[in-house]
Amino acid sequence: MKIVTDIPVLENIPVLVRAPLNVPIENGKVTNDYRLRKAVTTVNYLRGKGARVILISHIGEQGTETLEPVAEAFGRLVPGVSFCRESIGPAARAAIRELRPGGTLVLENLRRHKGERMNDGSFAAELAALADVFVQDSFDTCHRLHASIVSVPKLLPSYAGLELADEVAELRQALTPKRPAFAVIGGAKFSTKEAVLTSLIEDYDHVFVGGALANDFLKAQGYGVGKSLTSPEVPKHLLHLLDNPRLVLPIDCIVVPASEAMGPKARQMARVASLGQVNPDDIILDHGPGTSALLANLAGQASAVLWNGPLGNYECGFTDATLALARAISASNAHSVVGGGDTIAAIEDAGLLSCFSFISIGGGAMLEYLARGSLPGIDALER
Ligand code: 3PG
Repeated sequence: MKIVTDIPVLENIPVLVRAPLNVPIENGKVTNDYRLRKAVTTVNYLRGKGARVILISHIGEQGTETLEPVAEAFGRLVPGVSFCRESIGPAARAAIRELRPGGTLVLENLRRHKGERMNDGSFAAELAALADVFVQDSFDTCHRLHASIVSVPKLLPSYAGLELADEVAELRQALTPKRPAFAVIGGAKFSTKEAVLTSLIEDYDHVFVGGALANDFLKAQGYGVGKSLTSPEVPKHLLHLLDNPRLVLPIDCIVVPASEAMGPKARQMARVASLGQVNPDDIILDHGPGTSALLANLAGQASAVLWNGPLGNYECGFTDATLALARAISASNAHSVVGGGDTIAAIEDAGLLSCFSFISIGGGAMLEYLARGSLPGIDALER
């Protein structure tokens, strides 16, 4: 993979950078700028070489949001950032003509155009016509088969940004970790985690399944999970994983009567339940202290720890298990790699970000990379 430092000439050259600008926004303000801080390195490298830097990205799922507040927030990290309300067309081209060497322009949300998600060739051609070189620095989106990710690299000389190069180097190592190795996969939906679990259980000595994802496993073992979130049927491949001695599951949980789960008193009503003690009306919202102690022990013994996905229902305030694991990993000597937006936000809130060896900006992208060893957006650069 060629990287941005391999670009022979940059002075006054318009460079299109697919940047990780998909950050959380509330009331028109960026609430977590972690990805933006990761984007700075490549942008500063290009600015330092006198390139005209054009940042493209999506924000939000639907294409209704604007990148304007993100451009503002990015302008607090890098000087001379301007914003254009279009992502292609005459207005975008005019803004690029005005861009000075060393300047940075953020174009509007790519998903405003259907062609982005549909991987439309003419949309990709319009984007490619804006610049002479393409740099992919948004690892978090490299699993998407979208125009700016898989088609633009076919049309321009293309390079990996410094953040993307770091991600690939780290996650490649995570595919063959130092032993003993311990992986933690949280979140929900077995269907989206099946491939990564199947892959990790080959190379990691212990693979803990947490969050709502664990409910399917506990149910398949015959434990009642009350009204907790589960897949409609026990997924077939889950049963193979269940037989694997490397699989680790929660040994206790925090439950709340389902009627109170979303209410303000949820945390007061919570109780610790052993497996087998979950009532039919309960909902599991976190794992319990026994499980946290078990995980702390595994993290303490591990040479490598990999973690993606929160362990409890974060939105309802059930953060104890996630924070306990973050503290245990911070206290261990293991090489630690963590990813997933909610997980990173939790670790950052706890002030523990700097205790981890590597923080991936990918959520789904990290899981997919670990499941298959590459991503479409990376393959597109290597072609
Ligand atoms: C992410 O936040 O995981 C990436 O930016 C991809 O966003 P998407 O799920 O909206 O494609």
